[in-house]
Formats: sequence, structure tokens, C-alpha cells
Amino acid sequence: MKVIIFGATGAVGHSVTKAAVRENHDVTLFVRNKAKLEALLGSDILSHCRVIEGDALESSSVREALRGHSAAINASGHAKDGHQFHLLFKGIVEAAAECLDPPKRLWMLGGVTALDVPGSLDTSEALNDLPILYRTPYRTHTENYGVLLSDIASSLDWSMMCPGVLYEVDQRPATAPAGPLHTFTDAAQISLPTWALSKWCPKVLVSLLAIRQLGSFTVGLADVADVIVGNLRAGEFFKKRVGLKRDPTSA
Ligand SMILES: NC(=O)c1ccc[n+]([C@@H]2O[C@H](COP(=O)([O-])OP(=O)(O)OC[C@H]3O[C@@H](n4cnc5c(N)ncnc54)[C@H](OP(=O)(O)O)[C@@H]3O)[C@@H](O)[C@H]2O)c1
Repeated sequence: MKVIIFGATGAVGHSVTKAAVRENHDVTLFVRNKAKLEALLGSDILSHCRVIEGDALESSSVREALRGHSAAINASGHAKDGHQFHLLFKGIVEAAAECLDPPKRLWMLGGVTALDVPGSLDTSEALNDLPILYRTPYRTHTENYGVLLSDIASSLDWSMMCPGVLYEVDQRPATAPAGPLHTFTDAAQISLPTWALSKWCPKVLVSLLAIRQLGSFTVGLADVADVIVGNLRAGEFFKKRVGLKRDPTSA
């Protein structure tokens, strides 16, 4: 598949690039700094990629780069960049809708707190809507999800990867869960007692219960890359937010 990857010099982007080359996709990389890319990925991997230098905030460069590709993966920008990240995200979605070839496959990056509270009485309630989490920079992921739900993205076969903390394969934290990797969609796999879902339960308590479980979503950068690249063609995650978890109980 002809795929373009934005942000290949970043943590997620370089992992996704390695996976896409390994799977023999026809890969274009869009980066701000080619020299940084060469230092990070090495000539062996880069010999399989076309590289475009540009700024993902510049609409004309993004549109031009997207033409001739049928899939795009955006790993550029970061939630901590706040509104600037939102503009970057929205710009890439708009450009992808206009310029990608069919099937217009688009993977965007979010974070675990953009997933919904499971079993919530309020069906539109994301973890990011809860007190405490509402005030973190990760709330940008929820604003970005709104772009994917809007008319702007209606022609796209999009999926939004929503992982927890990510680690490099050789830097696995001792506390990271082990066991088989599994995927789930839209609602976060956290367990909440029934009383926490009652309308009488203070939301701040639900928030604290959720925050205590966020570490359980820690997975490897390679896990994220494998799921994205492994689902470039298939429609399993069509217009879904995708979460990842390693489950020690099924090891
Ligand atoms: N890493 C994690 O633990 C983690 C966990 C959950 C979710 N996420 C999400 O995953 C996504 C990627 O995160 P990351 O950790 O890979 O971020 P990162 O390491 O900070 O990489 C960000 C990438 O975006 C590029 N970039 C930023 N602004 C750009 C622009 N205007 N034009 C072109 N490229 C631009 C950077 O290029 P330069 O190299 O030139 O700066 C870099 O390649 C983010 O949405 C993040 O919120 C990350």
C-alpha cells in the first residue's frame, strides 16, 4: 500500500516507519528535519523510503505530500502542544479527506483518556471529561476526536489509536503489564464498581478510580506500530478509537 507517515522522527513515528518497511509497504516519510531522521533510522531503513521535508502545519505542503497515497498515518505533533496540536490534527484530516486516493485510509494518534468511561450513563463521556483529567493537556485528544466525528472526516476510513504510556522495546518499565496484547474499541477497559456509575457518585471519585488504572494501558511503541501497520488495509477499526492492553491474567 502507498502510505505516508507524518512525524517519523518521533517516538511513535519511527516505530511505525520500521513496521511499515518491514511489511513491504511503499513508504513516504514527512518530516521537518531529514538529518534527524537519518540519525534515528539509519540508511538501511531509509533506502526503502521516500522522504519529504516540510511542516505539517502548512496546508499546501501536506496536501501536496498526500497526493498519490491511499493511506496516511499521523504521528506528528503531541498533546502537550495543546491548541497547536489540534490545528495540526485538523489540518491533516482535512487534507487527507481531499487528497488521499481510495480507500482513504487514515490512522491518527490520540491517547487513552480520549476513550469513553465504560458503562457510563452519559454515552458521550470520555475519561477526559472527568474532573482532574479534564484539566490535563491530554484533553486535546478529545477535541481531536471531535474532528473525526465531524463532516470533515466523513469520506475517510479513519481509526484513532488511543494508547497509554509507551516504551521502547529495550526500556520496558518493570511495572508495565505483561501477557498477550489485545485491542478494544471506544470504551476504556477499566473496571468500575456499580456504585461509581450511579448519578449520585461524585465524578471526582470516578476520575480517581480511572487514574489509578491508567498504568494498566502501558504498552510498547512496537505494539502500537504493529497494530496500526497490521490494520492498514482491513476495516476492523473503521471509524473507531482503538485501545491496547496487555492482560497478565491471560498470559
Ligand atoms: N509517547 C507516548 O508515550 C504516547 C502515549 C500516548 C499517546 N501518544 C500520542 O502519540 C502521538 C505521537 O507521540 P510521540 O511520543 O511519538 O511524540 P514525539 O516523540 O514528540 O514526536 C512528535 C513528532 O511530531 C513531529 N512534529 C511536531 N510538529 C510538527 C510539525 N509542525 N510538522 C512536522 N512534524 C512535526 C516531530 O518532529 P521533530 O522531530 O522535527 O520535532 C516529531 O517527529 C501524539 O499524539 C501523542 O500525544 C504518545
